[in-house]
Amino acid sequence: MLTALFRTKGVDAATADAEASEHKLRKSLGVIDLTALGIGAVIGAGIFSAPGAAAAGAEGRLPAGPALVISYILVAIACGFAALCYAELASVVPVSGSAYTYAYVTLGEVVAWIIGWDLILEYAVGNVAVAVSWADYFKALLANVGLHLPPWLSTTLNHARETPGLFDAAPHLFGVPIVFNLPAGAIVALLTVLLVVGVQESSRVNAVMVALKLAIVVGFVLVGAFYVKPEHWVPFAPYGAQGILSGAAIIFFAYIGFDAVSTTAEEAKNPQRDIPRAMIATLAICTVLYIAVTLVLTGMVPWQELGVGDPLAKALEGAGLQRLAGVLSFGAVIALTAVLLVFQLGQPRIFMCMARDGLLPKWAAKVHPRFRTPYVTTILTGIFVGVPAMFVDINEAIAFTNIGTLFAFILVSLGVLVLRRTSPDRTRPFRCPAVPWVPLAAVVCCGILMVYLPLITWMRFVVWQVAGVALYFLYGRRHSRLRQQHGAGL
Ligand code: ALA
Repeated sequence: MLTALFRTKGVDAATADAEASEHKLRKSLGVIDLTALGIGAVIGAGIFSAPGAAAAGAEGRLPAGPALVISYILVAIACGFAALCYAELASVVPVSGSAYTYAYVTLGEVVAWIIGWDLILEYAVGNVAVAVSWADYFKALLANVGLHLPPWLSTTLNHARETPGLFDAAPHLFGVPIVFNLPAGAIVALLTVLLVVGVQESSRVNAVMVALKLAIVVGFVLVGAFYVKPEHWVPFAPYGAQGILSGAAIIFFAYIGFDAVSTTAEEAKNPQRDIPRAMIATLAICTVLYIAVTLVLTGMVPWQELGVGDPLAKALEGAGLQRLAGVLSFGAVIALTAVLLVFQLGQPRIFMCMARDGLLPKWAAKVHPRFRTPYVTTILTGIFVGVPAMFVDINEAIAFTNIGTLFAFILVSLGVLVLRRTSPDRTRPFRCPAVPWVPLAAVVCCGILMVYLPLITWMRFVVWQVAGVALYFLYGRRHSRLRQQHGAGL
């Protein structure tokens, strides 16, 4: 029984599956496209929204203050360790599925299933948060041009509960007030259609959005730098290390996404060389930008005043730059669209791999005969993300995303250690340096960030894990292709 649970899929079998013609995706992405996909995933709500709550403190968490820049640096180091581990495994196992596939090849089926299950938190729940954030900026943009959606059509349930009179003003169906976040659902629906039509088209759209978003972030730094008052940086760390780490546990969200590059391995022209390069380039570029943005932001505005959903725009407004604040809001909408796009692209490919392995029903692995995209799982992901996005609270979604992603990073880092031991001679086009220290450092850093997440998030995470394991024993284990190949007895 134990042997069967931890049975691994061979690297060659994983590659062969991806090459099978009925599952084969179009190979069209080069290193620049992949880095653009990475940046498209990474720069988003984590820098446009999260610095507010992290610097000023939120929901009983200690503020980081101007030392938020240290939070960003610490998380970048943690993600750097994890990225080196991802890069090694991605170069050994050049098929899509991300950490799920790597775990199947290294740690065994049950661990792979758990990771695949946790990646739903990273991709789908993460995108719920991003869609809600997108909707907020979109509303701000509409307001800029004098258009206002009725509140009942553009708010979350939590917010409606806290807003007096909103339920009364909403239309009622059988006595129940109708309140939901229409823009959040609509953007997910729109992107789902784009992704069904094809990855080539989507990656072109993504490249344009990434260029715009880089321009907006760099523009903020260049303009904002003239309005920095160094006295705002004093005291630098008002709540010391605890504040810095509490902030780090939130803004970890800002780095999520460099690993999404690896989910497109089957669509990359030269995955072994390009995927590790693209992941590390993505992380390096984003870290430099985050350091600059955070320094300028906390230098422009006293940290106590940053606790808003749009801190960058607020900083520009505070400096009397109303027009630029409007341009920045527009940029945030574009940036968040790019983030949504990459995760809506990644999640279906993970589902597809799981279905190919028999851990999810077979029909989920279908590739569209004309568009060559995994259309069944793309549409399902659109529903999984779009529906909750119309009802849930962004902060809860961010914390839940972070805990699942950190846990997946830990398992991937352990995977590097296991594979070095079980297959020491395998070709590794990219080798993680200083093994075992780098993987171990990744495990410890991610573990510390998990500790700083709220208790309620931990409770949700435990329930999620238990549900996942139950599902594995009820469905996945029985239908596993690997198990059937080795005889169903075990
Ligand atoms: N890193 C992504 C963001 O900041 C998830 O929105």
